[in-house]
Amino acid sequence: MATAIADIDVRPLSDACGAEILGVDLSEPLTPQTLKAIEEAWYEHLVIIFRDQDISNDDQVRFCRYFGDLEEVRTGKYANEEMQYTMMITNVTDTGMQTALENGEMWFHSDQCYYEIPCRASTLYAMEIPAVGGNTLFANCYKAWEMLPLDLREKLQPLKAHNIYDYVGNPLKRGDNVDPDAPQYSHPVARLHPETGKHALYVNRLMTDYIEGMDPEESDDVLQQLFEHSEKSEFTYEHVWRVGDLMIWDNRCAMHARTDFDPDERRMMRRITIKGETVR
Ligand code: SIN
Repeated sequence: MATAIADIDVRPLSDACGAEILGVDLSEPLTPQTLKAIEEAWYEHLVIIFRDQDISNDDQVRFCRYFGDLEEVRTGKYANEEMQYTMMITNVTDTGMQTALENGEMWFHSDQCYYEIPCRASTLYAMEIPAVGGNTLFANCYKAWEMLPLDLREKLQPLKAHNIYDYVGNPLKRGDNVDPDAPQYSHPVARLHPETGKHALYVNRLMTDYIEGMDPEESDDVLQQLFEHSEKSEFTYEHVWRVGDLMIWDNRCAMHARTDFDPDERRMMRRITIKGETVR
């Protein structure tokens, strides 16, 4: 059921996370009151979606700036200054832009958990979508943490997990061989969200390698248990895209994955990412 806060309507999309925001046109600047209502909805639902948006790259940049400073495309390869924050997640090869993650299923992950300062949030704007698949799944990592047995939470609470991402070798699914020089960093297994004050499980199947301070066999067993637990349907929402969807997710408490799709069909998402803060 939709609830009206300020001048927007918020319609939850699942019991796990995700909500649609109605009554907002992102091609226009937001009023402080609307922005506050959007932020509240975002903290509550982790992932929010604005449907039927007809927005330019500049509109998406303006929207993202309400949430913080933007990250430049790390490769430094972009068509012009206006596009310095924009990455195309697409299998379309003639955009003249930096592209990434072109095709295929992608395992659950949390963006940049292998860096000291992972991003705070990401936005995706759906420009072209395949007829079937290419859906984006989100897991509510607060719920995943809260629903772990108490004794396991007590054991994991002081520990850190080591994350590594071999973008060149295994960008979509973890392989048997991961480049030991790939970017990597250790972060708390239970991440404290600076705004909500809640803990979220902060390990994921694609990028988390081991739990520090555990022997390797136990670490593998515990991680496997945590991956299976956090990916359960009760904690996840699967977003079936429509052209014109603008989505923002909170990378500190939600992880995401992508379902497979026909590589002969075009899929084009415009991604702009917001810088993060020290992980606690
Ligand atoms: C990503 O992990 O940023 C890609 C998500 C998607 O393509 O749906």
